[in-house]
Amino acid sequence: MELKISLVTAAPLQASAEVLVLGIPSGLPFKKALAPLTKALGSALAKALKRSEFSGKKGQLCDVPVHSGSAKASRVALVGLGEPTALDGAEFRRLGARAARFARSINATTLAVGTSEVEFDGAEGLLAQGIVLGAYRFEHYRTGERVSKFPLEKAFVVTSRRSDSALKLQVADGQRIADAICLARDLVNLAPNDLYPEALADYAQKVCTERKESGLSCTVIKHAQLKQRGMNLIDAVGRGSRKPPVLIHMKYRPPGSKNEVLPKLGFVGKGLTFDTGGICIKAAPGMEEMKGDMGGAANVVALMAALAVTQPRAEVHGIIASAENMPDGDAYRPGDIFKSYQGKTVEIINTDAEGRLVLADALHYAVEQGVEVILDNATLTGACIVALGPTVSGYFSNRDELATRLGAAAGRAGEAMWHLPLVEDLREMLKSDWADLKHVGDRWGGAITAALFLREFVGETPWIHVDVAGPSMANKAYDVYAKGGTGHGVLTFLQLIDDLVKNGVSKPVAAG
Ligand code: BES
Ligand code: MN
Ligand code: ZN
Repeated sequence: MELKISLVTAAPLQASAEVLVLGIPSGLPFKKALAPLTKALGSALAKALKRSEFSGKKGQLCDVPVHSGSAKASRVALVGLGEPTALDGAEFRRLGARAARFARSINATTLAVGTSEVEFDGAEGLLAQGIVLGAYRFEHYRTGERVSKFPLEKAFVVTSRRSDSALKLQVADGQRIADAICLARDLVNLAPNDLYPEALADYAQKVCTERKESGLSCTVIKHAQLKQRGMNLIDAVGRGSRKPPVLIHMKYRPPGSKNEVLPKLGFVGKGLTFDTGGICIKAAPGMEEMKGDMGGAANVVALMAALAVTQPRAEVHGIIASAENMPDGDAYRPGDIFKSYQGKTVEIINTDAEGRLVLADALHYAVEQGVEVILDNATLTGACIVALGPTVSGYFSNRDELATRLGAAAGRAGEAMWHLPLVEDLREMLKSDWADLKHVGDRWGGAITAALFLREFVGETPWIHVDVAGPSMANKAYDVYAKGGTGHGVLTFLQLIDDLVKNGVSKPVAAG
């Protein structure tokens, strides 16, 4: 059953739901925020507060069982929001997610979420986003007993503001944006026997067709065509598989903007529907996780779906290079040399470094579209996870100013991303005796050499590369993310697009 989210103007305790989750600030407003609860919940509240040492600090949770009194809920949970002066939008999204997870953990099917003594512009929409992100479960392959018997069915966003049509739209849009992010999660979670390159293309096509009226369209360059065009690196990576590789090109333009000059942006994703490593085959333990090696591509699909909701004044191209990396009699091998779509020849060193190869051709394709900025995102290197841990993405850019803007976008989105350097000294590692480039350096600085390799294919176009290898999948739910595919990155990219549209793609450089 579809989750229904509605907005209610009420005192939080009046909301008719099994569970009420309330965000409570710390510091001075703490006492005041608790006042209405004290009256309704009496000693149960006092005991629960004492037991949990709850003070409204970020991340704290205080579970209050309700046996009688004037609250409609049978369970009230307080969630700490931290200092009210330091509150940002992401905290409301987190609150929504925490609330939904709490409700699910106690098999509640109805939930109300609100705050006490805090005001934040946009809070209602962000709460709705969080509720959807937190309620997400992937049950596609479950049967019988394993299907959730008590999914979250109804959620109320409780507001003190008048619920006019603008505020209702905010909540509805919040739900749709989060639903889009859940598409990325689904794609990552689908089994690789079901999600192969052409299946991913069909999915992308479906997403666009369903949102045609909102400005989305999609073309797919199939294997024969892609070979004919000279995308030899995508072909090389895909040739070991019975499932042919594809290049997916999604496009968004606001409806009715035909002759309007709009900023032109390109988002590129790595879409390895499975990565065995190819001839340089990976070890067996954990190999099943490589079904998620299309997390970057999934983010692009999700981003495009979200644009159908947010409707920015921009032309956005979503480009996905998708292949399956398999060992086979016809698979590509170390020592092979291929001419890239861009023209440079590449000597293959390790067939497990396939992501940068498919991206190289996709990046050149993006350049050909004449986009003003390119952002690629990919589950590219284990080295990036070694550097930053499993919950932080690393990003690189050939323009410092763009890197700064991406960092700010991630901050607004509440996503953990860290700027890494394109260390020029390491460029040497990509020199080949036999071709223009090798595609792999030695062990050290592996995330950096991968980024340096990609840079060879973007020419002068301002470009950002985000290595999402760590956070694209999670082994347990955290923050707004679910176990499995997370969709980490999409919120940041939406923020970046916002900034690029508002402030221009190339900010004027101060004279000096
Ligand atoms: N898809 C992997 C990177 C990866 C590893 C993503 C773990 C998510 C979790 C990528 O194709 C890969 O195999 N990279 C190699 C590159 C090496 C051979 C130069 C790596 O990181 O070991
Ligand atoms: Mn690989
Ligand atoms: Zn890979």
